[in-house]
Amino acid sequence: MEVSDFIMKIVFYGSGNMANAIFTGIVNSKSIEPENIYLTNKSNQEALESYHEALGVSYSYDDEELLKDADYVFLSTKPYDFLKLAERIKPFITSDNKFISIMAGLPISYIRDNLQVDNPIARIMPNTNAHVGHSVTGISFSTNFDPNSKQEVLTLIEAFGTALEVKEDHLHQVTAITGSGPAFLYHVFEQYVNAGTKLGIEQSQVEESIKELIIGTGKMIERSDLKMDQLRKNITSKGGTTQAGLNALSNHDIEAIFLDCLNAAVKRSIELAEADED
Ligand SMILES: NC(=O)c1ccc[n+]([C@@H]2O[C@H](COP(=O)([O-])OP(=O)(O)OC[C@H]3O[C@@H](n4cnc5c(N)ncnc54)[C@H](OP(=O)(O)O)[C@@H]3O)[C@@H](O)[C@H]2O)c1
Repeated sequence: MEVSDFIMKIVFYGSGNMANAIFTGIVNSKSIEPENIYLTNKSNQEALESYHEALGVSYSYDDEELLKDADYVFLSTKPYDFLKLAERIKPFITSDNKFISIMAGLPISYIRDNLQVDNPIARIMPNTNAHVGHSVTGISFSTNFDPNSKQEVLTLIEAFGTALEVKEDHLHQVTAITGSGPAFLYHVFEQYVNAGTKLGIEQSQVEESIKELIIGTGKMIERSDLKMDQLRKNITSKGGTTQAGLNALSNHDIEAIFLDCLNAAVKRSIELAEADED
């Protein structure tokens, strides 16, 4: 299904970092006419004007105009701004509006209770790789989302990466693995650069070559049908240099290190969700 099969109106309540990655991805995918994408925010009109100039999207602060005939309404403020946002939009919600929340940690039931409507609500957990069209986006739908609309939302999400439908409870795990995932990988790459620099080559040269190494390895993973363990085995000759390095790595329990990291992120995601609900 192509989103362009539908004439759709999409509204973003909150046009900050993450929303920008999403609506830019949707505009670039050419799946929807840019003027059918409406932006609003709290007060930064300059930002909205610059998105209008750069992308051709519409913007407004008139909530009645924004929500009238809107098919999908992204809730893209910080979680702590949601209650004010709910107060702002409640009087103007129509039965056409289906909500897509990008706010980390806020359950569908909490959003519904505060919007005081029974409209369909989806929760998504994107990551910043949306900026380059490669977000892995976890998604959960309320039970009253019809199959056709679900498919439309999945197609919208695929404009900035891939979608992974999970039970709502599992969004905590998605938050850890892929939501925070880019930061964990950046950290690992930083350590790799630091270690490489200790071998005596100039830092800038090490940084440049490891950057290229990461991009190239990512492309190999993308383009090959082989699983990662097979790609590794293919370049590991018995008794060779790669084997020697891997032997040294296997003296450390890297899986346990990552399990610690992911468990800490899941725990924090649950704590934050519980705090928001109080
Ligand atoms: N950044 C990430 O990696 C990431 C990943 C996954 C999910 N998220 C989620 O994405 C959400 C947004 O994060 P962000 O980093 O994009 O935040 P951000 O850059 O601070 O943007 C927040 C936006 O919300 C607007 N806003 C605040 N109150 C509003 C109101 N009452 N009505 C309408 N708009 C309002 C702000 O408008 P003004 O500029 O006018 O103040 C701004 O446009 C968060 O809930 C976060 O959990 C982020």
